[in-house]
Amino acid sequence: MSVSVLVTNCSQLVTMAGPDRPRTCKEMRELGIVHDGAMFLRDGRIAAVGSRAEVELLAEPNTQVVDAGGRVTMPGFVDAHTHLIFAGNRADEFEMRCSGMTYQQIAERGGGIRSTVRKTRAATEEELIAVGQKHAQRFLRGGTTTVETKSGYGLTLDDELKILRAVRAVSRTTPLRCVPTFLGAHEIPDEYKGRPDAYVDLVVEEMLPAVTRESLAKFCDVFCEDKVFNVKQTERVLRAAKKLGLGLRVHADQFTSSSAVELAAALGAKTVDHLEQTTADSIAAMKQAGVQPVLLPGSVYAIGSQKYAPARAMIDAGLPVVIATDFNPGSSPTASMTMVLSLACTQMKMTPAEAVTAATINAAYSLNLGHEVGSLKAGKVADFVIHDAEDYRELAYFFGSHRAHRVFAAGAEV
Ligand code: NIG
Ligand code: FE
Repeated sequence: MSVSVLVTNCSQLVTMAGPDRPRTCKEMRELGIVHDGAMFLRDGRIAAVGSRAEVELLAEPNTQVVDAGGRVTMPGFVDAHTHLIFAGNRADEFEMRCSGMTYQQIAERGGGIRSTVRKTRAATEEELIAVGQKHAQRFLRGGTTTVETKSGYGLTLDDELKILRAVRAVSRTTPLRCVPTFLGAHEIPDEYKGRPDAYVDLVVEEMLPAVTRESLAKFCDVFCEDKVFNVKQTERVLRAAKKLGLGLRVHADQFTSSSAVELAAALGAKTVDHLEQTTADSIAAMKQAGVQPVLLPGSVYAIGSQKYAPARAMIDAGLPVVIATDFNPGSSPTASMTMVLSLACTQMKMTPAEAVTAATINAAYSLNLGHEVGSLKAGKVADFVIHDAEDYRELAYFFGSHRAHRVFAAGAEV
């Protein structure tokens, strides 16, 4: 027998109705809001959305009713850039940064990513699954139902596989949908110090084939940055990944501007992420190649920088902007998409509507999931959130304290 659910009494049903593609320019401000709206679900999928008067007629005798109580109902957030799985944390480095050291100075002294790598290598797969499950609960509580999540704290074949297997287990054992990305080229591990090309050999010749043999990743990412991987090394990894059928994402222009964006555009990457230091030419290259920028204001905020990515210039240039948490133990220890909405609005001058678009439908398309999640449309998976708010703008406005009221993944309450 099929299970049906009526979700009703929504002050605003934020449907994100619009074209079946990522939204650009003025479209980013159009949220398809139905006032006093309702939604009818069948077997974990959306069957109808519309006005309360219309949709309530669809209820059957055994339909379960979810009363939103006059609150905003919208798609679950899609967080398109996270590092979900790592051992320990770096509260010690946070204190060092508060006392004046920079993120890069700490990394150069053996801290940073490499410090998390040491702890993650020492953890078992079971321990990492437990960490991932704990982090998954944080995301779900905040109203995030889909995350992209990267490896990158193992940096040996076995440890990278261990992390990606843990991601798969978290995705299977929690309601959080995880899209896995292989980020073996996240940092040069201690044992390859001064020999980055030899490490790239390992990534290309051993790690990538093993990852794809076990179907452990959908995307491949590289941290292209001064003192990490240069553009040439980045190109080697991305070309090898592309050959194996993986989609491409790149960490680029975070601290220094390089030609990584142009490389990503030439290789047909799905996204380039960070972009705090990016130039007008790189924006044009992304536009030309259909690359989506993923902006991570939480990582600018948390490292105490003032230089946010030029979101306005990107939106004005017609780029389908995405925003994400970059959840990780170093530069962005937040799982809160509402905090990211707030930063996007106050620091990057996006409107609340643009920020919502960037955190839902545009993010979904950046993960090749635009046909499944990211909007409330008949046929899609019923991933949605009833927020403690009457108006969607409150999500970005009341910063730092937001909790989702009720969260549903595939029609089931989390
Ligand atoms: O996206 N930039 C590289 N990777 C992460 C930081 C990871 C860490 O500090 O542990 C980022 O900011
Ligand atoms: Fe990142």
